[in-house]
Amino acid sequence: MKVGVIGAGIMGAGIAQVAAAAGHQVVLSDIALDRAEKGKAGIGKQLDRQVAKGALEAAAAEALLARITPAGDTDGFADADIVIEAATENEGLKQKIFAGLAGKLAPQALLATNTSSISITMLAAGTDRPDRFVGLHFFNPVPVMKLVEIIPGLATSDDSRAAARGFIETLGKTAIVAEDSPSFIVNRVLCPMLNEAIFALGEGVGSVEGIDTGLKLGANHPMGPLTLADFVGLDTLHAIMEVMQKATGDPKYRPAPLLTKYVEAGWYGRKTGRGFYDYSGEKPVPTR
Ligand code: 3HC
Repeated sequence: MKVGVIGAGIMGAGIAQVAAAAGHQVVLSDIALDRAEKGKAGIGKQLDRQVAKGALEAAAAEALLARITPAGDTDGFADADIVIEAATENEGLKQKIFAGLAGKLAPQALLATNTSSISITMLAAGTDRPDRFVGLHFFNPVPVMKLVEIIPGLATSDDSRAAARGFIETLGKTAIVAEDSPSFIVNRVLCPMLNEAIFALGEGVGSVEGIDTGLKLGANHPMGPLTLADFVGLDTLHAIMEVMQKATGDPKYRPAPLLTKYVEAGWYGRKTGRGFYDYSGEKPVPTR
């Protein structure tokens, strides 16, 4: 298959990597070629680590990388079987991207969004193919996490649902189907928990280390909630909580005030070098 990916950030690059690992040809596109090339270089680094560990043959890593073509535009999507949008979690931006793709994809191509929370039905309505549009929600780090949520919109055809499931199976991932409800299944449960941990921190219930150790050792989570919030991106978590609050009108989903403050400060977590931990040194250091 030929797969187009829009957005060469952490999620887009991860999706490109697993698609190429499955043997698909991938066009990894971003607003500028150098961004797409940076995304591909990041994949190269991941693969180098796997080769060094003996988990992957050097030749296989090279072949995988050769299947990924970075691009600064979407011209290479014309003959793609599926195009997956993985841009920033911003409704207006995603709508603009989909409007720009109108008339540019093959009629039978499946168009997907990796949105974490935004209505699939609403995004589909702004495309030239609401029946061939679906939510495919991947999890970070994409090469490691085994789940993908499939979210059909109101207009998504049965054929498109089946095609989406078939594609996810080629990646060796497990698919679950979620209703087109704000944040779907996993984030509906996970993000309020991360937000609650930030409320608890802001109220002084525990320190960063205390809260993270608590959930790691007391609930067997692989990462503490504040580490995970930094990993997901505090801007992304904030956007998800705002979508949930706006869509439901329920104040229980309001972003924790401390989360809003961190986002206002530009402290987005791991990707900016500072969130609830400082990532400038060799090991993350708790900041509160
Ligand atoms: N990319 C690729 N591979 C990675 C990776 C990355 N970013 N990070 C870790 N790995 C691999 C390692 O290479 C290692 O592979 P190996 O078993 O073949 O050697 C394996 O994952 C385990 O890594 P480590 O031993 O370094 O570290 P851990 O055992 O602590 O695992 C983790 C790291 C898998 C990230 C684990 O901490 C974890 O599962 N954390 C929770 C992640 C999570 O909840 N993700 C979902 C976030 S929500 C989301 O994405 C939705 C969005 O919409 C917000």
